[in-house]
Amino acid sequence: MTAPTTDTGLLRPHAEQAYAAELAALAAADDRPRPPSWQLSPAAVVTYLLGGVLPDGTAISPKYIGPRRLLEVAVSTLATDRALLLLGVPGTAKTWVSEHLAAAVSGDSTLLVQGTSGTAEEAIRYGWNYARLLAEGPSEAALVPSPVMTAMRAGKIARIEELTRIPSDVQDALITVLSEKTLPVPELGSEVQAAKGFTVIATANDRDRGVNDLSSALRRRFNTVVLPLPAGEDEEVAIVTRRVAELGAALELPPVPAAAEEIRRVVRVFRELRAGVTADGRTKLKSPSGTLSTAEAISVLTNGIALSAHFGDGVLRASDIAGAVLGSVIKDPVADAVVWTEYLEAVVRERPEWADFYRACREVSG
Ligand SMILES: Nc1ncnc2c1ncn2[C@@H]1O[C@H](COP(=O)(O)OP(=O)(O)O)[C@@H](O)[C@H]1O
Ligand SMILES: [Mg+2]
Repeated sequence: MTAPTTDTGLLRPHAEQAYAAELAALAAADDRPRPPSWQLSPAAVVTYLLGGVLPDGTAISPKYIGPRRLLEVAVSTLATDRALLLLGVPGTAKTWVSEHLAAAVSGDSTLLVQGTSGTAEEAIRYGWNYARLLAEGPSEAALVPSPVMTAMRAGKIARIEELTRIPSDVQDALITVLSEKTLPVPELGSEVQAAKGFTVIATANDRDRGVNDLSSALRRRFNTVVLPLPAGEDEEVAIVTRRVAELGAALELPPVPAAAEEIRRVVRVFRELRAGVTADGRTKLKSPSGTLSTAEAISVLTNGIALSAHFGDGVLRASDIAGAVLGSVIKDPVADAVVWTEYLEAVVRERPEWADFYRACREVSG
């Protein structure tokens, strides 16, 4: 499988760069009405995310694998005056979907605020170029706009990652922006009024502990869409297979055979530990403290392929992934090690077709 992306020579191109050809083909074929400032109609945005075939035969690759309805709700929210909050456990593609939505709707996914406990109000409102501020006093030229302000002026989507990690008082800077669609600049006696097309996509983990909850005033400004973990094993295998192939192509890793079986095995291990029960429903298991997300399965396999390509025999073997599987499962060295050992001895060992994996895991556990 080759990735349908444009080779930009960059390590990590933005979605609108990597999928420029697809976005252009969608725009050319799109005869439905587009909301103000949108690059595509809502239906074409959904096709961009879920994949499909255009009337002229151009194939659009699926970016997100999951329920269509969720994306329809998300995309139609962007066409209203409410902002969009993507909520879910880590690794459910919140960031990924947010980037692709911004790329498809605004043609620009880069107006991004990364939320952390250290995010300051300037990141959401504006800051100052202090040299100019001291030399000339407050002026339009001395003002340093935030990504949110830039998005308001341009009528584009601003993305806010990990909204609930931002301190509550800083989060509140968004209330005026989202309710009044203006950003006052009292130092200049002026304001920035949002152009049509401006909105915000925020992401938040519902697993985050000890973080700042959204105030109810802010929550009312958002429509929440919860991104679920993949429903079934086949669906998760499909997601991992596609992303591992795309990442391998982007990193120009040599193709490595036998990946299909290893992918299914890693996904099965992750799903069983996550669910606390074996796939056949017979054996109850303890779950480890980590999330064992789809995203982690993708990185375990990508690491395994690199290991096998460069240091193994070029075929993906259990020994290429055992170390990374262990690293994902055992986050807490004491409690998770117990969980893993039980799983290894009670489940992995009992599966004759997993003998190679059992041996490899025993070796890395030491
Ligand atoms: N349902 C899905 N469809 C497509 N890719 C997915 C899906 N779930 C997870 N992924 C992949 O997982 C990776 C990490 O997702 P990310 O957006 O960083 O997760 P989050 O922000 O929710 O923690 C991405 O490379 C994405 O492609
Ligand atoms: Mg994320």
